[in-house]
Amino acid sequence: MIGKVIAAESDKITARILLDDIETVNMGDLLVIESRFKYLARVSSIFSRNIGEPNLPDKMAVLTDRIDDMESLFGNQFYYAAECGILGVLDSGIKPAKTIPKFLSKIRKAESKDLKFLLKEGKNYIKIGKLRNMDLPITIDIDSFITKHAGVFGKTGSGKSNTIKVIIREMITHRIPCLVFDIHGEYGYKRGLGGMENVIVVGLPGSESDVSLTVPLQMITPGDVRVMTTLTEAQEDAVALIYKRSGRGWLEYLSQTGTEDIVSNFENKIQIITVLALQRKIERIVNYNFIGRDFDSLNYILEKIKQEKIIIIDFGDYEHDDWAIKLITSIISRFLLNKYKKYKKEGHKTKETLLVLEEAHKLLNRDTAKKTVFSNIVREGRKFNLGLCVVDQMPQKIFEEILAQLNTVIIMLLTNIKDREHLILSSENDLSDFKKEMKRLDIGEAIITGISVPFPIPAKIDLFKKGHSKEESFDQFEFNELDI
Ligand SMILES: Nc1ncnc2c1ncn2[C@@H]1O[C@H](COP(=O)(O)OP(=O)(O)OP(=O)(O)O)[C@@H](O)[C@H]1O
Ligand SMILES: [Mg+2]
Repeated sequence: MIGKVIAAESDKITARILLDDIETVNMGDLLVIESRFKYLARVSSIFSRNIGEPNLPDKMAVLTDRIDDMESLFGNQFYYAAECGILGVLDSGIKPAKTIPKFLSKIRKAESKDLKFLLKEGKNYIKIGKLRNMDLPITIDIDSFITKHAGVFGKTGSGKSNTIKVIIREMITHRIPCLVFDIHGEYGYKRGLGGMENVIVVGLPGSESDVSLTVPLQMITPGDVRVMTTLTEAQEDAVALIYKRSGRGWLEYLSQTGTEDIVSNFENKIQIITVLALQRKIERIVNYNFIGRDFDSLNYILEKIKQEKIIIIDFGDYEHDDWAIKLITSIISRFLLNKYKKYKKEGHKTKETLLVLEEAHKLLNRDTAKKTVFSNIVREGRKFNLGLCVVDQMPQKIFEEILAQLNTVIIMLLTNIKDREHLILSSENDLSDFKKEMKRLDIGEAIITGISVPFPIPAKIDLFKKGHSKEESFDQFEFNELDI
């Protein structure tokens, strides 16, 4: 026993902690309260209190250099307490608590045997770590993790990418396809899953990859350009006219036709100054060396995903090029969403597939989120078995409507108060109990909350280690015609 209940209120209790045990109780610890029912609770704050005169701490303060033992002077007037959120009632699993425990119910630390129900077997569950301070593996329900969308948030170096690598390693075993937008080269050959069986690194120039990424120019829509840069009203009108006439060939037309010819082709409905500005803007896009006309990586990626492979898009030299990041993530994700929609319409079954977006704030900030395909994916991807996992070090920059759609949130160390507050205010999961704990997590420690776990789990994520290497050589993949 480490203490007893001294106050209770619907979903929380205050525990008196025995003096000698105070430093064995950690924020986030799981406790069991033995009353008529067995309640599971979680420590959300720890503090000291005193009874009697309100100025007792002051009296003690002025005497601190002369006394070592308070009790000989003041008697038994000081005690330690912890506030704990009630997570539920243990009953061969966990059920919502509709009652509160009695005064003075005994409290002890939760043990592995209390929480065995967490360890679920089967193809729907993956193991990603252990309960903090306990030798009990944690499993998450991968189906709801994927299709109900997820977020992994923590400051730089807190262990986000390691968490995703551990999740993906499990997905390889379960043969669940996944595509990672690996902006900073954390998942490919250098530090990640590159070379493992069933993993394909599709790279931009500057990366070590299995195949190079080539995106057809025809796949770029006016919407993609809007995500990358702002267009004036006149430029919007001009793009609409050109797109109406040239369709998918609009960028080719705009980049390869003389400025004055464009003006006259459109009977002066577009001003020369507008055409010049647009041509300047799109020149950079058209000249990207990953834009190609022959090989089409999109169908290659789709085919490999259908074969339940893991695709890593390594951005190589483009890791700091926001335009390239926005363009590539948008095109590939839209292509997959449209294909998955089409398959559903045709009555074909698709396997649930996870898209992982690192540096998510670049696309999912307040200004651009709604313009991106990712807002469609979090809204309707579930119907088509396509899920999004958002990874970011600054959740304060992620648009709240996106955060609200992430039904599993893995919180790692967050030292910035604005990040913590934004996450708590925007998430559909009630994260307020973890406000203090979020800033005290060690590297690799996490709070896993939401739909894929039975209650918010204090976790220590496994450290990723590379698994089996592949032996097969890369098969050639060619398309006779562009299927877009
Ligand atoms: N679960 C873990 N157990 C032990 N060490 C870990 C764990 N997670 C991360 N680390 C250590 O911390 C380092 C940083 O982790 P990681 O690259 O996952 O952080 P990150 O949050 O993705 O950072 P960034 O935002 O800079 O990309 C790892 O290289 C590893 O050494
Ligand atoms: Mg990272």
